[in-house]
Amino acid sequence: MGTLLVLYHSQEYGNTAAMAGAIGEGARAAGAEATLVNTNEQRLDIEQYRRFDAVAFGSPDYYSYIAGGMKTFLDDWYIAQKSNSQGLKDKPYGLFLSHGGGGRARRPLEELFGRMGTQVGGTVTSRGRPNDAVLEACRELGRQLADAI
Ligand SMILES: Cc1cc2nc3c(=O)[nH]c(=O)nc-3n(C[C@H](O)[C@H](O)[C@H](O)COP(=O)(O)O)c2cc1C
Repeated sequence: MGTLLVLYHSQEYGNTAAMAGAIGEGARAAGAEATLVNTNEQRLDIEQYRRFDAVAFGSPDYYSYIAGGMKTFLDDWYIAQKSNSQGLKDKPYGLFLSHGGGGRARRPLEELFGRMGTQVGGTVTSRGRPNDAVLEACRELGRQLADAI
């Protein structure tokens, strides 16, 4: 069974967490094992990151940028891959963003995570609480990531 990591930051209302949950549902329905990690609750050990086959990265828009927890992950990733890139590069990945109406973090999100591998599907964006259409788009992204493994 392929493994998917859903790595996200959610802190304010749980909006990004709801999107992450739907991605996990879609991936499981398509036969993958999905693990969800909220960077607001824990800093992901970069050694654990190596073992996943695919990953979905999600962030709320914070000041037209990604949340600090996701930036910390990227910093850890960059330093770790310089000495040993095994399992750190070239994963299929998906992106999702929650915002309050501006949503300008989409561009830095796509630029920063562009170095991680090959993006699967389009970036799923949501204003405020994710509605049914957003949640279905998240499930679809989860299915696509499972299929990409
Ligand atoms: C510190 C902070 C900065 C924010 N900056 C922006 C912003 O620049 N643009 C925007 O559209 N939303 C902004 N928001 C709104 C959040 O992106 C939005 O409420 C999001 O859905 C929160 O996700 P969460 O409930 O998963 O934490 C900001 C929220 C916080 C707490």
